[in-house]
Amino acid sequence: MAFDAGNGVHIPLIGYGTYGLPKDVLKRAIVEGGYRHIDTASYYDNEEVIGEILREVFAETSIKREDMFIVTKVWNHEKEDIAGALKASLARLGLAYVDLYLIHWPVQISGFKENCKPIRLPLHKQWPQMEEMVRQKLTRSIGVSNFNFQLLNDLLTYAEIRPVANQIELSPYLTQTNLVEWMKKERILPIAYCPLGGRSAKKEENFLNDKTILEIAERHKVTPAQAVLAWGLARGHASLPKSSDPTRMKQNIDVFSIKLSQEEVDAISKLDKNHRTVPAVRIPDWGYAPVFE
Ligand code: A2P
Repeated sequence: MAFDAGNGVHIPLIGYGTYGLPKDVLKRAIVEGGYRHIDTASYYDNEEVIGEILREVFAETSIKREDMFIVTKVWNHEKEDIAGALKASLARLGLAYVDLYLIHWPVQISGFKENCKPIRLPLHKQWPQMEEMVRQKLTRSIGVSNFNFQLLNDLLTYAEIRPVANQIELSPYLTQTNLVEWMKKERILPIAYCPLGGRSAKKEENFLNDKTILEIAERHKVTPAQAVLAWGLARGHASLPKSSDPTRMKQNIDVFSIKLSQEEVDAISKLDKNHRTVPAVRIPDWGYAPVFE
């Protein structure tokens, strides 16, 4: 199942988050898991490996470039030259174009990691560079990540090419209901990262052990993770679950036939605690950028 972005672009609603995963796992996700929406970023330092995998997959299987939906992102210190950043990503990926290019964070810095410093670079000077990437056919669509309502609403006042998606952290403990509902009205797809709670997924206090979710999963004879991913689909957001386990990898994409009732969707949404697992970008001598404050 896919979101129709209205410009000929269809975004598969379950994608695969690639951060920190080894090559064999990533290749298995495409070949055996059936994932076609692959989410990377220049920051993840795995674009070259993904490029190698894609070349192998295209040579060894019947999967073609057009079957894949490849997403990458411009990092915070690359935004003075977005064309240079995307061309470097494409060279690492070995691709002529990506399907979706995202501004990774609404944070502007110069330098990388321990050497980075905040700079002032307005979004209205970044977005036209993003639009130019569509015009040059280096990406089929553009979007943002970690944007709040005001940033995105403001961007819509001058965007000539609209963002098709905003990739944000979403889970039963971080529902961001107002933002999700508004984005749906604007036909901007919310894409969830850490939909299973990220690093906290294996901890006792994670929502995968929550009584409400366990009961709903039991009723539908699915796993708690599948129930959570089906909840995302029912409320209209895409998800990027990450698993290195072959069985869970397959289960996490096998969720399209799970139909939760409105009561079940509401019961999961009520678990919201406004709990984030990803605390934005750390800037030395400054702490975390206050993106969400
Ligand atoms: P594993 O790789 O052993 O499956 P997120 O997608 O929110 O980033 O969460 C990733 C974490 O969730 C990983 O630790 C992953 O572990 C775990 N995970 C992924 N799929 C499932 C599942 N179906 N059930 C339980 N835990 C899962």
